[in-house]
Amino acid sequence: MEKELRRQYRFFLKDTIRKAIDFSKTDQNMGVESPPIEKPHSTDAVKVDLIKPENLQNIKGIDLAATIAKRKSRRKYTDEPLTMEEISFLLWATQGIRGEPSHGHALRTVPSAGCRHAFETYLTVFNIQGLKQGIYRYLPTTHQLLFESAPHNLRQKTTRAAFGQKFAGNSAVTFIWTAIPYRMEWRYGLAAHKVIAIDVGHVCQNLYLVCEGIGAGTCAIAAYDQEGADALLGVDGEEEFVVYMASVGKTI
Ligand SMILES: Cc1cc2nc3c(=O)[nH]c(=O)nc-3n(C[C@H](O)[C@H](O)[C@H](O)COP(=O)(O)O)c2cc1C
Repeated sequence: MEKELRRQYRFFLKDTIRKAIDFSKTDQNMGVESPPIEKPHSTDAVKVDLIKPENLQNIKGIDLAATIAKRKSRRKYTDEPLTMEEISFLLWATQGIRGEPSHGHALRTVPSAGCRHAFETYLTVFNIQGLKQGIYRYLPTTHQLLFESAPHNLRQKTTRAAFGQKFAGNSAVTFIWTAIPYRMEWRYGLAAHKVIAIDVGHVCQNLYLVCEGIGAGTCAIAAYDQEGADALLGVDGEEEFVVYMASVGKTI
């Protein structure tokens, strides 16, 4: 049993599946309309404008080689809040859109297989100047934050969602990425899932680097409570589910 599961999981890491797929039968090639590049929301939702990358006043001249050299996982944060400029920058750097969306896809600041970008970014916000505590979702098409909810005891709930890892609830903000797998399946069928997993690494790596650049730190979190994290965000766990998290805060 264990041996068979191991074989299956190793298979997931390979690209053998590609040879078994009839790509002429994927939804894309069958003429099915492409799924939206961003999860839709109601027109009366509360939204907060973020600062566009070209208007950032206090974030400039980050030395890429220096940030790469000092990058590490940081799990201890000060009480200093993040500014709106800083969270705007972190969101743009991790999922921001480059240029105009066209024909059902949009280029972003991170790469993605087939430009499918199967993720949504949620934030549990605890300590960001000008933002009340709560759960928000990034809207890359308009560079805004969508207010989702303000559950009680959000710090404790975020820690629980991160399988009891306290730094997830002691942060200024914790990023929680969900996948909407159909965005990738539409193009690649059963070859979608490995590349979704690869893609999310790029997103978090950009977060690591830009955090270092603004005197903050982050720690990737892949050990989380799947059902608990999905319930915290109110996603269905099938068509959309949590795949990765990362806490962020100022560091000394
Ligand atoms: C995919 C992935 C999952 C991780 N999950 C966790 C986690 O759940 N909890 C944690 O404390 N660190 C987590 N980390 C951070 C690693 O422990 C850390 O990257 C590693 O120890 C190397 O340290 P460094 O990032 O400082 O170089 C994760 C890192 C990656 C890339």
